[in-house]
Amino acid sequence: MLIISDIAELEEALRIHRTECKHLSLVPTMGNLHEGHLKLVNQASEISDFVCVSIFVNPLQFGPKEDYIAYPRTLDEDISKLENTNCSLLFLPESKDLLLNIRECKADPYLSSILCGKTRTNHFDGVVTIVNRLFELFKPKSTYFGEKDYQQLMIIKEFITRNDLNIKIEGISTEREESGLAKSSRNKYLSSDEKEKATLIYKSLCKVRQSILDLSSLDQALDEAIELLEENSFKVDYFEARSRVSLKSSNDLEEIILFCAATINNVRLIDNLKV
Ligand code: PAJ
Repeated sequence: MLIISDIAELEEALRIHRTECKHLSLVPTMGNLHEGHLKLVNQASEISDFVCVSIFVNPLQFGPKEDYIAYPRTLDEDISKLENTNCSLLFLPESKDLLLNIRECKADPYLSSILCGKTRTNHFDGVVTIVNRLFELFKPKSTYFGEKDYQQLMIIKEFITRNDLNIKIEGISTEREESGLAKSSRNKYLSSDEKEKATLIYKSLCKVRQSILDLSSLDQALDEAIELLEENSFKVDYFEARSRVSLKSSNDLEEIILFCAATINNVRLIDNLKV
């Protein structure tokens, strides 16, 4: 696995590999890799002969009161994990290089104003700005994003289409702990008691899904789910049913996806579940 930090060096490596390889794919990450990230890398390597992973904790997508400084950075472990995959190149840019003269990009105004966008203003603009910079550098044929961050996936899809980027984007299903808790770098912040409580997010999503399948009242199921989480020390940011295609509010059982964001002891967790 090539490990490159310097942008000029990256461009030279990619130039050489482009003449030899058919299919370059890119998996952007912020590191502290877990099985969820590695699933993206493994899926990429099924169709790609040059899988590139980037690790960059992107300051542009963190709000002033968010965890940019505290975000877990575990580079040595990340490298060991990637060495056991088919990752061909790991890109570890320096902030000052990657952000130099970066072109600010905008996420779709609707998609970035709902769900997480309601409280995390500018978050998705920061995400598309950095992802676009990585796309410019790598010019991948395909890119892999997790359904764990479904709103982000939809925003990147829309960005690719709107800008005619000719990149195939694959959404990969969420990797979970045995308890159902979605794997996340932020789970590191949780005590074992909080981690136990955090399983209620997935359990509540499953319960609301079951209510929908039983044709019970969706509003009541959502209210009960919020109540259960709040009784267990969570502050619920949202618990909503939307269309998995448009992310508009939806009652169409065929296309509903449930979304939850909730904070416990200042740790904000998100998850979703298709019905
Ligand atoms: P990060 O949180 O590191 O996630 C990198 C990728 O891994 C994202 O596409 C995310 O959806 C996916 N992922 C995270 N947890 C997952 C899980 N449990 N199962 C499957 N996939 C999972 O998302 C970001 O970084 C950043 O916003 C980024 C796109 C890199 C831009 O800075």
